[in-house]
Amino acid sequence: MRSHYCGQVTSALLDQEVKLAGWVHRRRDHGGVIFVDLRDREGIVQVVIAPEQKAAFSIAETLRSEFVVQVKGKVRKRPEGTINTNIATGEIEIAAAELILLNRADPLPFPIDDEYHEVGEETRLHYRYLDIRRPEMFSRLKMRAQIARYLRHYLDEHGFIDVETPFLTRATPEGARDYLVPSRTHPGSFFALPQSPQQFKQLLMMSGIDRYYQIVKCFRDEDLRADRQPEFTQLDIETSFLTEHEIQSLMENMIRGLFKDILNVDLPQPFPRLTYAEAMRRFGSDKPDLRIPLEFVDVADLLKTVDFKVFADPANDAQSRVVALKIPDGASLSRKEIDGYTHFVSQFGARGLAYIKINAEGKEGLQSPILKFIPEEVVAQIIERTKAKVGDIIFFGADKAGIVNDALGALRLKVAHDRGLVEKGWNILWVVDFPMFEKGEGRLSACHHPFTSPQTDSVDTLLKDPDHMLARAYDMVLNGSELGGGSIRINNAAMQKAVFQVLNINEEEAEAKFGHLLTAMRLGCPPHGGIAFGLDRIVMLMVGATSIRDVIAFPKTQTATCPLMDAPAPVEPAQLIDLGIRVVKE
Ligand code: AMO
Ligand code: AMP
Repeated sequence: MRSHYCGQVTSALLDQEVKLAGWVHRRRDHGGVIFVDLRDREGIVQVVIAPEQKAAFSIAETLRSEFVVQVKGKVRKRPEGTINTNIATGEIEIAAAELILLNRADPLPFPIDDEYHEVGEETRLHYRYLDIRRPEMFSRLKMRAQIARYLRHYLDEHGFIDVETPFLTRATPEGARDYLVPSRTHPGSFFALPQSPQQFKQLLMMSGIDRYYQIVKCFRDEDLRADRQPEFTQLDIETSFLTEHEIQSLMENMIRGLFKDILNVDLPQPFPRLTYAEAMRRFGSDKPDLRIPLEFVDVADLLKTVDFKVFADPANDAQSRVVALKIPDGASLSRKEIDGYTHFVSQFGARGLAYIKINAEGKEGLQSPILKFIPEEVVAQIIERTKAKVGDIIFFGADKAGIVNDALGALRLKVAHDRGLVEKGWNILWVVDFPMFEKGEGRLSACHHPFTSPQTDSVDTLLKDPDHMLARAYDMVLNGSELGGGSIRINNAAMQKAVFQVLNINEEEAEAKFGHLLTAMRLGCPPHGGIAFGLDRIVMLMVGATSIRDVIAFPKTQTATCPLMDAPAPVEPAQLIDLGIRVVKE
């Protein structure tokens, strides 16, 4: 049907006969001559149909946007003054000799171009196939394929073997809810779709595969955000007999190569490393965006004896923090803007947002709701420690450490984005030395997942003080987004059982849920470890999209539905009977 893609017809093909096929992007009538912008995935070319070409012309008169046509014609130079230097095909046009209508199209719900149109995302997703006709969407999907190809190639070259693991399986804990699939042959029993292939990839190490990878769907029923989907893709990796440093350097090398190959960007070698503790202390986040030149300054030691309980109480409590965050040139913030930020931090549990504005030199130049509570010399020490200058503002967070970190960590990002303080470029790093466990609702849960090795070989040491035990875990962070995370795994059953014990999983439950893993650990289990990258996130950042939905062909909405297929949907009663399931109306 065709000899070239529309977007490939350049002046290199002058005077040649070409055959093209594609969509009518636009039709224009110009006093007897009809122009058709013909589009396919590679671009747009101008087709000219003269009235002398009677058959072609009468078809051209009927064309509407998005009709599918085939054109035969000669490539010729565009007349002087009509050349478009913005597009590759801008110097030429096709003089149509033959035009065949392959299919008609009804009027479209929205135009196919990259201009801004007020089209709701729901509509875009409902007509996703139209959305993907847009060059922007096409180029994102194409780049996604190139990125996946690069990663596969790298791993193939480094001895990794692509192994598929099951989707119909048992729950494996990654901290989200499971998607369940009822079993027909075992009524009342359910498969869980994997939140990750974590246990299978470890079992593959116990199988002697040595180096595994898979580009694989994972399923997590969790609250959705711009960078989270219920069904997403991991580049999942596991290795045997490598230390965390060896794994990290293999992975760094891969990501460096990827950025060089796809974007011609040079990432640092090696990637900088930050401990979890330092990241939390300086930025209140375990995925700090270091393009933002704002940092927490701890000031609790200065405030232990002040007559202001809001500050003095947390200053004297080991579980709390009092933190100052200086915003250069922030004194120009209005009352209204500050109120806005106060409301913003309240969403993270903060009970207020004290501040000091430095409008001019000297103590008369200070403006703040808390000056009356804090001795002059303490204010001076705070200003000195934060290196605040005239024109700056200092914000304060005083509360339990978790609240201060969340609230001021988020404020740091928000103010930086609002005020254009985010530096251009790519900032990548490893965050290492995560804690083994985190406290939630009184009990400990795994910070990464329960198969992560502690930084000790001694079960006694782990059990003595699990709260302070660090994990052999690491995250790769790019521009404030967690690209990937992994760890060295536990490879002996005694340690695995001890971790289950800390997590309040009793022996019976551990045997029922993870007996297979514990047994495998006793039958010749090599030291092993790995990592999983969020492929959607890598692509999102590399193409400059703001949501992973924009780099997934058929994503789910914020409420985990698919408007295109209208899923999820009720099923036939007969299907439910087969499955032994009765739906209870709310
Ligand atoms: P983790 O849970 O950190 O680790 O996931 C690895 C990476 O997957 C991405 N990711 C997501 N992307 C989109 N939508 C989601 N809902 C979502 N959840 C996670 C993130 C994250 O860094 N089995 C371990 C890995 C290991 O230890 O090897 C795991 O799944 O980019
Ligand atoms: P108050 O005396 O409660 O009016 O608080 C005085 C100032 O301290 C106000 O600007 C509050 O926003 C701020 N503030 C109150 N609680 C906190 C807190 N936990 N952390 C930071 N600032 C706070």
